[in-house]
Amino acid sequence: MRPNDHPAPGGVQLRHVSQPLPHDSAAKHVQGAAPYIDDLPEPAGTLHLAVGGSPMARGRLIAVDLEKVRAVPGVVAVLTAADVPGKNDISPAFGDEPLFAHGHVMFHGQPVFAVAAETRDAARRAARLGAITVVQEKPAVTVEDAEKRGDTVLPDYAFIRGDASAAIDAAPNQIAGQFRIGGQEHFYLEGQVALAIPGEDGAMHVHTSTQHPTEVQHVCARILGLPDAMVTAEVRRMGGGFGGKESQASQWAAMAALAARVTGRPCKIRLDRDDDMAMTGKRHDFRVDYAVGFDDEGRIQGVEMAFLARCGCSADLSQGVVDRTMFHADASYFLPELIISSRRLKTNTVSNTAFRGFGGPQGMLAMERIIDEIACRLGRDPLDVRKVNHYGPERDTTPYGMTVEDHDVGAAILEQLERSSNYRERREAIAGFNASSPILRKGIALTPVKFGISFTLTQLNQAGALVHVYSDGSVQLNHGGTEMGQGLYQKVAQVVAEEFGVGMDRVRVTATTTDKVPNTSPTAASSGSDLNGMAARMAARQIRDRLAILAGEHFGVPAKEVVFRDDHAFAGNESLPFAELARRAHAARIHLSAAGHYKTPKLHWDRQKGVGRPFFYFAYGAACAEVVIDTLTGENRVLRVDILHDVGRSLNPAIDIGQIEGGFVQGMGWLTTEELVYDKDGRLRTHAPSTYKIPVASDVPADFRVTLFDGENREETVYRSKAVGEPPLMLANAVFCAIADAVQSIAPGRPVPLDAPATPEAILKAIQGIVAAG
Ligand code: MTE
Ligand code: MOS
Repeated sequence: MRPNDHPAPGGVQLRHVSQPLPHDSAAKHVQGAAPYIDDLPEPAGTLHLAVGGSPMARGRLIAVDLEKVRAVPGVVAVLTAADVPGKNDISPAFGDEPLFAHGHVMFHGQPVFAVAAETRDAARRAARLGAITVVQEKPAVTVEDAEKRGDTVLPDYAFIRGDASAAIDAAPNQIAGQFRIGGQEHFYLEGQVALAIPGEDGAMHVHTSTQHPTEVQHVCARILGLPDAMVTAEVRRMGGGFGGKESQASQWAAMAALAARVTGRPCKIRLDRDDDMAMTGKRHDFRVDYAVGFDDEGRIQGVEMAFLARCGCSADLSQGVVDRTMFHADASYFLPELIISSRRLKTNTVSNTAFRGFGGPQGMLAMERIIDEIACRLGRDPLDVRKVNHYGPERDTTPYGMTVEDHDVGAAILEQLERSSNYRERREAIAGFNASSPILRKGIALTPVKFGISFTLTQLNQAGALVHVYSDGSVQLNHGGTEMGQGLYQKVAQVVAEEFGVGMDRVRVTATTTDKVPNTSPTAASSGSDLNGMAARMAARQIRDRLAILAGEHFGVPAKEVVFRDDHAFAGNESLPFAELARRAHAARIHLSAAGHYKTPKLHWDRQKGVGRPFFYFAYGAACAEVVIDTLTGENRVLRVDILHDVGRSLNPAIDIGQIEGGFVQGMGWLTTEELVYDKDGRLRTHAPSTYKIPVASDVPADFRVTLFDGENREETVYRSKAVGEPPLMLANAVFCAIADAVQSIAPGRPVPLDAPATPEAILKAIQGIVAAG
């Protein structure tokens, strides 16, 4: 079945939605013709900023001598905390992070001052000349350092059901252990950047590379001491965000805005890669302490998981991120009795933040490792242990009291992928290979994904859109969602074209700006198309309904009999071109502009009690990965990957498959090659691609088979689609588990001491560990 053969709910034939159209900027991306902020023509007089960072990770800031900085030719202004007219606070919620350090420093590289100069080169040279005196204190770098101090950024939190400890003790088998999961640098290709242009009466227009224009607006207003209405934030596209521009774009936008205010000139800041890596937060890394009790089939009876998160120097988004770790610690499995607890540890490292999956991947991976260890203890196939634990009838309540209503979808995906990947036959073939291959070892794993869709902070689950039809029949579309390469603009444009029955060439999507659609949520939690697609549809529908009345009068039929398609309005055999209808509507003084607003239904979440329905629905998927490792070097390769993923009824299968492939490879990078190293002084030692290895084209599995699960969202989302942005990242858990499986083959029955990421070094250590345990 071709995607466009799918009849829409109600049997209507779709013309734009569900088409595998290319990304709206695809041609421009490959031609280098899609402008990013650094490509915009700079207004006359634009100044360039560079940042001076703290030389220590923790201590009292006693002197900042900027004489030499000021003396550099071309330097126009030097800014510190003292220059902030409003509140020196860039934090998204908790008021605990300054724009510029003041009084004390919290991490190595923390911005202390900024230089505005005529050229970027002059600004960068000058920034190096600042003399910052810090009375050093011993920093807390690791989770253990912070744990010892009892220092947290937010209170501890837990989900509790039944008596986990008694259930574990009463079970026939027990395991306890510890597992470490590394963080991840976003490595968006376009680094953090902003251009602030001062306007009339102190107003400020900020071009910003952010997933959250409204927050940039708020933070700039707060720093400048202005009402929100005086600041406009605009973003046409990002060269990738991946969560790294959800809260952490505002610092740079605010710095540019402050410099623009002080100098009265447009100011631009573009962090170079080393500064970007040192000065912006990453995926949270964790230590997970666990204990589990299970029966002889591997069915979990009780589990205790303690998640210790390195949050960095401030709360940033750690409330939501670590909550989502806890929400996904069940992975796809029913846990009868449990304690899932968390500590949000405060360290003298950059504040960790959102990253694709928003903490979910860490929770899920920990549980998948527990499942593997259960399988190892019982000598069973891990897939069988996954299946006996999978959510099912009567076993369908999550640790947070939400019912998994469609667990059959997850189970069906597992079954279908098991067959289509030939998992069982390949498992046998791999056992045969390993039996005669002492040095190269293969491993295979098939792991499920179940990811909750909605912001767990309920108020964020709303969106707005603004649609105009011009009198020539062309359509302008604006919504609160931002474009970071994920194809949101195209998907929402498809929805609007469908609504008006016009060609895609008629629909112009304009940059996201806070003056067109206000009070927006970040484009995050994979909810962009769910929320903005609905809001845009509601806006378009209002205008279409007005046009239908006019067309109905023209044709002499009731408005509801007018059909919009193929750039025309139809009634029976009669038709009117859409452009002609728009012209007539304007002449008849009909309002051709409308705003739409959507809020996700069915959500309720009581965080205090830890019960409710935080998610509208779940997205499901599964991956089967086969790997080979070299037991002498730890080198590893992914040989084949089969993915079956559920996007409901796809809005755009080409874009969705791109998201699945990209998300998977990004997850693979997190779990195999990307390793963040802080030294004991809290200095990030991996702050450039020379020392931090992201996956490249040649790391994509040579045999990579991605299939969309044939189904539709049972909830009423836009055209019954499902969110796709983050869930596929967790498909990469299969790669980690397959590597562990390869190590396991060396000594079946002994636990595999492998932490994430499974770098060659970590694999070698695990091999030595498993051999030594004998
Ligand atoms: N895809 C690309 N190409 N670039 C990105 O920055 N971010 C991911 C995902 N896919 C990202 C991406 C993240 S973290 C999220 S939350 C979603 O896209 C956000 O967009 P959506 O809600 O429209 O899916
Ligand atoms: Mo995505 S981590 O929710 O920006």
